[in-house]
Amino acid sequence: MIPKRTFDAVIVGGGGAGLRAALQLAEADLKVAVISKVFPTRSHTVSAQGGITSALGNVSDDNWHWHMYDTVKGSDYLGDQDAIEYMCRNAPTAVYELEHMGLPFSRLPNGKIYQRPFGGQSQNYGGAQAIRTCAAADRTGHALLHTLYQRNIAARTQFFEEFFATDLIRDEAGSILGVVALEIETGQAWLFESRATLLATGGACRIFRHSTNAHINTGDGLGMVLRAGLPLEDMEFWQFHPTGIPEVGSLITEGVRGEGGYLLNKDGEKFMERYAPNAKDLASRDVVSRAIAQEILAGRGCGPHGDFVYLKIDHIGADKVKERLPGIRELSMQFAGVDPCVAPMPVTPTAHYMMGGIPTNMHGQVVAPVKYGPEEPVPGLYAVGECACVSVHGANRLGGNSLLDLVVFGRAAGLHMIDFLRENPIPANLPEQQVDKAMARLARWDKKTGTETVAGLRTDMQRIMQDHCGVYRREDLLKEGIAKLDQVEARLPDAALSDHSKMFNTVRLEALELENLIPIARATLVSALARTESRGAHTREDFPKRDDGQWLRHTLYTRENDQLDYKPVRLKPLTVETFQPKERTY
Ligand code: FUM
Repeated sequence: MIPKRTFDAVIVGGGGAGLRAALQLAEADLKVAVISKVFPTRSHTVSAQGGITSALGNVSDDNWHWHMYDTVKGSDYLGDQDAIEYMCRNAPTAVYELEHMGLPFSRLPNGKIYQRPFGGQSQNYGGAQAIRTCAAADRTGHALLHTLYQRNIAARTQFFEEFFATDLIRDEAGSILGVVALEIETGQAWLFESRATLLATGGACRIFRHSTNAHINTGDGLGMVLRAGLPLEDMEFWQFHPTGIPEVGSLITEGVRGEGGYLLNKDGEKFMERYAPNAKDLASRDVVSRAIAQEILAGRGCGPHGDFVYLKIDHIGADKVKERLPGIRELSMQFAGVDPCVAPMPVTPTAHYMMGGIPTNMHGQVVAPVKYGPEEPVPGLYAVGECACVSVHGANRLGGNSLLDLVVFGRAAGLHMIDFLRENPIPANLPEQQVDKAMARLARWDKKTGTETVAGLRTDMQRIMQDHCGVYRREDLLKEGIAKLDQVEARLPDAALSDHSKMFNTVRLEALELENLIPIARATLVSALARTESRGAHTREDFPKRDDGQWLRHTLYTRENDQLDYKPVRLKPLTVETFQPKERTY
């Protein structure tokens, strides 16, 4: 048996979701470990720029019902309305809680939290633009992550930095009893035994070639869940953020448009007026990304290859740009060679966020279908944040709702785990054969020789996903994508590790990450092929209309035989009336 550490709860992932849940548990005096592939404050939450959405009403008249309506509409009616109500109703409390923890929000002249407009926000159920996203300049995620980290240190959460969780340990009864993780520096495998395990491993946009995501976003929690025989939900829905820096991928926040920026094509036309006559540049992201793609396809893209559009913000004045968007100015100057105080920035739609993920209920419990009955929680397993699908974002997430999702459901999961731990005080016996199975997978990557490279295979997978499952999808493209991905997967066992050491072997880690990414890419292609409609971020050229009759349901993908199951969208909120699906225009 490998060395073992025992905790009440193990949190896999040191981003905003993991740290919010860990804090709840640590403050309840439970013994909590956070396992993080990177130093926690380098987790991808640090890159969230524009803000956290909450109907505080500091700038425009507002209330959580309008926020809820916008989120349901933004989700193209695929979001579960009970979860959306829970999130929007709890948003003000969550933001004030962060403020009291010390998060340095930007301020209005009257001292209240600064809020900026973001896409898809309205007053009075589709009326005038609401101003709802609370910001710390354009570094809101950075401020949030550091605040939560400091709080966790004070609460004595134990951090295992630069540990890479590889597999869940699941017993015969289906309970999760902990994880196996590699200590990156030494290559040593450890067993983390716990009565409750929470996955908060973030997104997986690294399946695509062009992404705003960090290199660490390889869907590790999703890979673990698939290997444990559990399903993933709504994997066809990936958000392409309208404004990434071409080729580089770095995010240019929607906050630029919130502060008054607008998009231009090569003719200098403010083209969003044609696609979204009311909301224009602040339509929801799926709408803006498709509009940019259409402009490029119609030959109105900018630059020598006509493959991007411009985002102009210099007209608001250099002082305002420097005060409200300092990080964007820096990114744009460094990676696009453009100072936005004087010239427009080149931008293009870039893979940004995974709406689907590990299916959970509102307490963060991972749920799985039971053969002849309703779905049930998997004992001891939780998931929160981008890796989870609760589902508040449905087919398209609104900007600023992701930081909100992390803290609202991070807290909810922490609370539920405390109860679960009290009700289950005795650890179950660890099934040694499951640990052996996890170790056998690691051992496969001790080998040194082979004809392929991990980096080469990863690039091939990313190209396939970019070309076959991007903003626009079609049956023939998707089928071809699946066939090509099969070939990449078949080549994986031939990959060699260029670095032969077991210690600090980054290629070995990348091989393990690729074993997570490829099945996620497959789940995406298979689910996208099955959904014969266009909804939110999933646009089928061969099925251009939304089909509520057939498709007001979530997809559940299981790895064995690419099995697909479905479950209906929960249209009924907790306390208010259902927002009935209707045509979605901006
Ligand atoms: O555009 C942005 O600042 C991104 C925010 C988000 O994805 O929520």
